[in-house]
Amino acid sequence: MTETRAGSRVVLITGAGSGIGRVTAREFAARGDQVIVTDIDEAGARETAEGQPLCTVRLLDVRDGKQIRDLVAWVVERYGRLDVLINNAMVCTDQDFGQLADATLTAELDVNLGGALRMIQAVLPTMQAQHSGVILNMSSVNGVQYFGNEVYSAAKAGLINLTQSIAVRHGPDGIRCNAVAPGTIATPHWDERAAADPQVFERLAKWYPLGRVGRPEDVSAALLFLASDAAAWITGVTLPVDGGLLAGNRVMTNEIIGGSD
Ligand SMILES: NC(=O)c1ccc[n+]([C@@H]2O[C@H](COP(=O)([O-])OP(=O)(O)OC[C@H]3O[C@@H](n4cnc5c(N)ncnc54)[C@H](O)[C@@H]3O)[C@@H](O)[C@H]2O)c1
Repeated sequence: MTETRAGSRVVLITGAGSGIGRVTAREFAARGDQVIVTDIDEAGARETAEGQPLCTVRLLDVRDGKQIRDLVAWVVERYGRLDVLINNAMVCTDQDFGQLADATLTAELDVNLGGALRMIQAVLPTMQAQHSGVILNMSSVNGVQYFGNEVYSAAKAGLINLTQSIAVRHGPDGIRCNAVAPGTIATPHWDERAAADPQVFERLAKWYPLGRVGRPEDVSAALLFLASDAAAWITGVTLPVDGGLLAGNRVMTNEIIGGSD
């Protein structure tokens, strides 16, 4: 077993080889946490961990229950505990729902919702034995309102419900479970779209009461807070990290109030 420093937590993040997961892994490591950087893309995970002595890379496909159970057993064997799980891995196709092949539909549900279900199943016994633990699910504004991407959105809505289930059932075990619902965040996920449509973020920024799209750091800050003792009495919630979008879309409200930005 490897000793961890006082105040340092053992944090496992899925899909941490890119975007929000990468920034989040580095932010947790920066506060002294031991971070297990996992992804199906090993090269991406290695890049996340480069120059980060507190980051350890493990290849992980969240569709594979055995890989997940083996990884969690490895973490517990090596560090003796698991304090924070962040379910962040995702896939999202821009193909039209009506034309979506069954295999694509199934894969999207399997990664985005199935992955979180399997990860939570695997970490619960350890967190119950510790009588502590924090589980954070990466939902989306798509899980709350319609913004396109039907299958992705259904999975993200499922994560909100799952967050409540785990919070209520396992609160008495000392486990907290919360979700975040980001709006548009400029990450590599958007690269293809932004290459085809260079003005996309500028246009989408007009929807947002705070006048810009989000950065990965906006989301990692919320995750750091929800994982911390400052959130000790917060569980079962989904925190929008969305520049105010779920409160109101500025393009729509300008139509009604006659304003312009
Ligand atoms: N970027 C946004 O606009 C936005 C908005 C709302 C919510 N989110 C959520 O934030 C999270 C991170 O998004 P991002 O924009 O950083 O995405 P990203 O595409 O940059 O990163 C996703 C990561 O998941 C990994 N992944 C894919 N399939 C996997 C699998 N089977 N097993 C393990 N890892 C797998 C990818 O390799 C990649 O590294 C996602 O849950 C996403 O739904 C993003």
